[in-house]
Amino acid sequence: MGQNKYTQEEIDQYYENMKNDFLGPLWHDLGHMVTKEPVHDVEPYLWKWESIRDYALKAGDILEPGKDAERRVVYLQNPSLLKRGLVGYGTHTLYAGIQLLLPGEMAPSHHHSQTAVRFIIEGEGAYTAVNGERSYMQRGDMILTPAWTWHEHKHEGTEPMFWMDGLDVGLVRTLAASFFEPYADEFYPEEQPENYSTKKLSGGAFAPIGEERKPGYPSPIFNYTWERAEYELERLSESSHNEDAYDAYAIEYINPTTGGPADFRIGTMMQKIHPDQHTLAHRHVHSAIYHVLEGEGYTVIDGQKFEWSRGDFFILPPWSWHEHVNTGKDNAYLFSINDKPVMEKLDLEFGETYTENNGHQTIEKTFDPKSD
Ligand SMILES: [Fe+2]
Ligand SMILES: [Fe+2]
Repeated sequence: MGQNKYTQEEIDQYYENMKNDFLGPLWHDLGHMVTKEPVHDVEPYLWKWESIRDYALKAGDILEPGKDAERRVVYLQNPSLLKRGLVGYGTHTLYAGIQLLLPGEMAPSHHHSQTAVRFIIEGEGAYTAVNGERSYMQRGDMILTPAWTWHEHKHEGTEPMFWMDGLDVGLVRTLAASFFEPYADEFYPEEQPENYSTKKLSGGAFAPIGEERKPGYPSPIFNYTWERAEYELERLSESSHNEDAYDAYAIEYINPTTGGPADFRIGTMMQKIHPDQHTLAHRHVHSAIYHVLEGEGYTVIDGQKFEWSRGDFFILPPWSWHEHVNTGKDNAYLFSINDKPVMEKLDLEFGETYTENNGHQTIEKTFDPKSD
């Protein structure tokens, strides 16, 4: 009964002194520290493609990559993170930017400890080279440039080329692990024939006798083409047995040598949602940034309706109820990046299904960027 020895005034003084000495009483703070459920600063948000595209195109008149800037990218600044004085990436872990490369331009070779994935939105004729191997990019392709691999881009086509860059900028910043280095030259030397890794692994896999082979990182493929992804989804969606209640018809991009995610730290997924398909709601620890490759519909996130159409981007915060609806006449395709691989490696991933109201949330409001 130690506390009876002291007056209230003395006890108040005790707390004051402790605070001044930069110490804290855990018996007051445990509930904020070890919360019953994930607590976070990330709110959902949605950006329309036309607006992003206009800003990127205007940047095309203002600056040139390789000359005025390392890269020409307009990136998503989630207002909920900006409001709290945090650098405004997409989620607490993930960043997404929209890169524009104009005909004849190049973005010089560099590498960094952030891992990166690209998703091609518009245009053709540009390539990404990873450690000296070029791959020409087409709409819908997903390109890996794993952490610390040398990468550059060059555009040999005739129309502007847009793609999404997804990086684990927030995670690496939190872990104080960012390193960046430009290559001494504009281009990394060519070490493999064009598209070598993709060709090598299509229709068989071969290696020289005596070569050391082991499952590992990075993935032996770095261009995951839309042609193949679309084929997989086509095959999957032929039977409703393959339908996932929460994600419709969904595939993850994998590293064929491990069966794990294509990238070590950023998860990548493509969902196909048939017309009138409406998934059930669930939530999970991992957060995501979505890009609408094709179609129109909406996603309900914690009771708020986010209406999307081709090209839009939206944020799925951690531990938020969500369900997807296709309202169009055609299939909808949603590409997303997530931090699930990190959560799984750290044994922090956990999910829950929404059980009330037949698995569907009640829509309380519709997102409007101007009022939010
Ligand atoms: Fe980069
Ligand atoms: Fe989900």
